[in-house]
Amino acid sequence: MKCNRLVDVGRRQFLRGGLVATAGAAAATVVGTGQAQAQTALALVDYPANRLANIADLAANEPMDIGYPDADSPGVLIKLGNAVDGGVGPDGDIVAFSVLCPHKGWMLSYNAGDRTLNCPGHHSRFDCESGGQQIWGHATQNLPQFRLRVEDDGDIFADGVDELIYGRLSNVL
Ligand code: FES
Repeated sequence: MKCNRLVDVGRRQFLRGGLVATAGAAAATVVGTGQAQAQTALALVDYPANRLANIADLAANEPMDIGYPDADSPGVLIKLGNAVDGGVGPDGDIVAFSVLCPHKGWMLSYNAGDRTLNCPGHHSRFDCESGGQQIWGHATQNLPQFRLRVEDDGDIFADGVDELIYGRLSNVL
């Protein structure tokens, strides 16, 4: 008889523990959902829409120095001469990137031969025909690419960035 009572107490404690665990899991789900929403909100950045140049100013495969989203963030605007993913303009070949290496911020230089941006610091290389994809070196992210649009009169505007620019906690200061 005493033994049966102990088994019964054990069963009740087991069920109570299960209820506590279920409640905890539900609370964690609510907390988890709240955090995900907070991160989404933090990721929203208001970018300025800055005029960079006009299509008529560009020569094929010759980068033009620009600054975006402000003058302290150097970049290049390039008419590659062949259509690429993310390229704008009538030929789908105009792209723009930050030229601060994502590794330690050295200034990148353009190689017109293979259309890459190259770092003199530790030799990271980025493919301008593939959205700034890193193809070699110490960096741990692709090159920030500026989002472009072209107006009817040929003016080229930047209005966004797809990666974090080196040295910044937010692309827009
Ligand atoms: Fe460019 Fe190190 S700063 S690879």
